[in-house]
Amino acid sequence: MSENLQKEDTSPRTTSMVKLENVSKYYKDFPAVNDISFEIACGEVFGFIGPNGAGKTTTIKMLSTLMMPTAGRMSIGGYDVEREPYEVRRLIGYMPDIFGVYEDLLVWEYLDYFASLYRLGPEQRKRGISDVLELTDLTIKRDAQVMSLSRGMKQRLCLAKTLIHDPEVLLLDEPASGLDPHARIEIRELIRELCRMGKTVLVSSHILTELADFCTSIGIIEAGQLLAAGRIDDITAQLAGHVLLEITVKGDTAFALEVLAERADIQRTTCDGRVIKAEFDGKADDVDEVLEYLVGRGVRLLGFNRAEADLEDIFLKITRGVVA
Ligand SMILES: Nc1ncnc2c1ncn2[C@@H]1O[C@H](COP(=O)(O)OP(=O)(O)OP(=O)(O)O)[C@@H](O)[C@H]1O
Ligand SMILES: [Mg+2]
Repeated sequence: MSENLQKEDTSPRTTSMVKLENVSKYYKDFPAVNDISFEIACGEVFGFIGPNGAGKTTTIKMLSTLMMPTAGRMSIGGYDVEREPYEVRRLIGYMPDIFGVYEDLLVWEYLDYFASLYRLGPEQRKRGISDVLELTDLTIKRDAQVMSLSRGMKQRLCLAKTLIHDPEVLLLDEPASGLDPHARIEIRELIRELCRMGKTVLVSSHILTELADFCTSIGIIEAGQLLAAGRIDDITAQLAGHVLLEITVKGDTAFALEVLAERADIQRTTCDGRVIKAEFDGKADDVDEVLEYLVGRGVRLLGFNRAEADLEDIFLKITRGVVA
């Protein structure tokens, strides 16, 4: 009892949902994952990108409590992955890269089987099955045999199974691999929907562009080393050394340029018509300070934006083209 009470006190819902600290995994003396650390905030969609053999599956398996790290610490939702695997398992839905579906079951039986493993009651099971079928667009296949499904449908069924206990964190290992372009788009839409539902998602891929339009943060791993991790705009800023701002001025751009020059964190400005491009030397999250300053000094604005990050560009810079 006192232990439970203590748990409530010591495991608050932190904003960081997934956390890895100096995690390594050696297979004999081969470092498949080498001293990696990163965090995924609550509600983020984290793209875990790297080529074949980079260490993605190994990392995801460790997070899923299926494999012990050789060194380091991991937590999910404040629970220690090694010491509190049962709490962690309740929070996560893990979709492995290679999955077996039980071919001779019916679709609903397959889901019911997994729901029973999570000890969901009959009502919860019924509702859960119908919800996940709906979400994965498989309602129509409820009574079909698993073996009669196409590969793409089986992949969606696997995702449905992953969602059956309504987990808060999803660990999806290459959920779209081996699918045709149409089916890949369907999986992408599904992940987007999960994101709208407020889930925290880690999704791996070796194809950057597949993740680019819906990830809020990324980690790039190569040969067991984490080359970069964080919010996409922070990584871009880190690489470029600045955040690029696009400021559209109403009226006198000269005055706006003067005001910008007063700030030490504005490095360089260029002006094209009413649009000023300014290099901000701070964090992507702090650009509001520049906006406030301009408005406070009486500059009239029509627009104030952060220039879009070109993910492909970042990726090439970081990996120097090693990652295909
Ligand atoms: N059970 C194992 N025993 C020995 N080495 C292993 C084992 N599993 C993985 N490895 C090695 O660890 C490294 C990382 O493998 P991992 O499967 O984590 O990579 P990945 O990023 O998921 O690659 P892919 O894109 O091909 O799925 C590889 O060099 C692999 O050969
Ligand atoms: Mg893998």
